[in-house]
Amino acid sequence: MIRNILSFAMSLVLAVGCTYNNSEDLYGGPVLLCDTASVTFSQDISGIIAQQCLLCHNDNNATAGLNLEGHAKLSAAALLNTFMDRVERSVGDQLLMPPNGPLSDCDQSKLRAWIAEGAPNN
Ligand code: HEC
Repeated sequence: MIRNILSFAMSLVLAVGCTYNNSEDLYGGPVLLCDTASVTFSQDISGIIAQQCLLCHNDNNATAGLNLEGHAKLSAAALLNTFMDRVERSVGDQLLMPPNGPLSDCDQSKLRAWIAEGAPNN
């Protein structure tokens, strides 16, 4: 019985390992486990937003009236239900943000974790 449980656990570990190998092939570079336990605005969130959102939602170009530049504006926007609704849309959905494809699962998880904490400036 214990032996069965152990081998099942091992196959889970192996399956997860393969998943990460695949994403490494897909996206290039080393892919680390997604750490959502210690997400901060400065270490995680500001970089994701800068790379994926600011092109269209910045101080000079607030597309659709949405400016995500700086913690205060981003935080206020992120605490609205519409924010994650847009990020979590399916590929091909016209409402998906960013428009050219979804954020990685890890980036989406980090955003969810940060928003669940109240989108703090940490
Ligand atoms: C290439 C430009 C572009 C990028 C990059 C982009 N957006 Fe947008 N965004 C738009 C456009 C255009 C609209 C208005 C059309 C629409 O509502 O889909 C919009 C609308 C939105 C809205 C709805 C605003 C409202 O009040 O109706 C949200 C929320 C949003 N974007 C969030 C994001 C987030 C979060 C990111 C990054 C993960 C992002 N966007 C990246 C172009 C972009």
